Amino acid sequence: MRARQIREGIFWMGAVDWDRRLFDSLIPLPDGTSYNAYLVRGSSKTALLDTVDPSVYYQLDAQLASVEHLDYVVAHHGEQDHSGSIPAVLARYPEASVVCSPKCKPMLIDLLHVAEERIVVVDDGDTIDLGGRTLKFVHAPWVHWPETMLTYVPEDKILFTCDFLGSHLATSELYSTGRPREREAAKRYFAEIMMPFSNLIVKNLDKIDGLDVDVVAPSHGPVVSDPGYITGCYREWSAGPMRNKVCLPYVSMHGSTRVMVDALVSALVGRGVAVERFELTGSDLGNVAMSLVDAATVVIGTPTVLGGAHPAAAHVALLANALRPRTKFVSVMCSYSWGGRAVEQISGLIGNLRAEVLEPVVCKGLPRSQDLQAIERLADQIAQKHRELGLA
Ligand code: FEO
Repeated sequence: MRARQIREGIFWMGAVDWDRRLFDSLIPLPDGTSYNAYLVRGSSKTALLDTVDPSVYYQLDAQLASVEHLDYVVAHHGEQDHSGSIPAVLARYPEASVVCSPKCKPMLIDLLHVAEERIVVVDDGDTIDLGGRTLKFVHAPWVHWPETMLTYVPEDKILFTCDFLGSHLATSELYSTGRPREREAAKRYFAEIMMPFSNLIVKNLDKIDGLDVDVVAPSHGPVVSDPGYITGCYREWSAGPMRNKVCLPYVSMHGSTRVMVDALVSALVGRGVAVERFELTGSDLGNVAMSLVDAATVVIGTPTVLGGAHPAAAHVALLANALRPRTKFVSVMCSYSWGGRAVEQISGLIGNLRAEVLEPVVCKGLPRSQDLQAIERLADQIAQKHRELGLA
């Protein structure tokens, strides 16, 4: 992809990674992603904001053929999908300095072996004059690493937000078009990357509310020309009301757990509670993560394998624990044949969830009438709890 102009003297650069299907060797990327860098020219100085994942540096390298001189490489964030090509850019431009936050400096040294003498540290609110164009640095810790900062160009009302307000979406469009697919990509991205820091997201949203912004230019996904739309989405996802909904990830080996899940789904729907059900051997965990953003209750279903929880159920429990959703209630449904500690294992894996634990349902073999009654009671309790929160 060639460089594309956003304003006179400001260009999108970077790479669209259409074929990438996994991020951090963990996160599914059904729609690919992009690594956006931006070239900002003033009358006297030129800056490159972020770089790209080293695997696709060749794309940025080709775009830089038209840039004879570079004064600054701004590193908003130490993670290598944006910082990883800084050494290559510095080699290409021996005159350039890297500009970053104080917490980012040791990361660039440790992760990329950037020479310390080439790094310039900037504090929150510091500015660099490019000549008729200003880079104003806005520290935004924990969106999603501690060192993250943003850059605001007041003359053009553009906020370069790095990971913040981005989305994993490979597209030929430079700008967001408002299609539902883009909202889903942004929500998936929020769920997988930002959700653990919801409280800090709100603080950083408040901070950028004070800026006059026409364009949000993130480091993944399309540029957003309606900043209020994406910041509104982030406010909803990080602090909005939970939904009258149960997220129900499960796995079943011989059908007993599936019978329990079928019974719970039927019981919940009959009580007016929505259910998002995920069979874990065939589900995209990104969809589970999206469900966790606003599901008031999570119920994990697992059979017993070699005395414990099924590894797929343990995996989703670990993931939920890491993502720290704002879930209000949590429970486990388990079947077993000759004993085991599946419920205790799952419960021990979700300690980060500040949720009320509802009585688990444990069933020996194929559910009997008393087990189905216990599931009805769990559904009753969930519906009642949701009503008490005003969700129903
Ligand atoms: Fe897109 Fe945290 O890197």
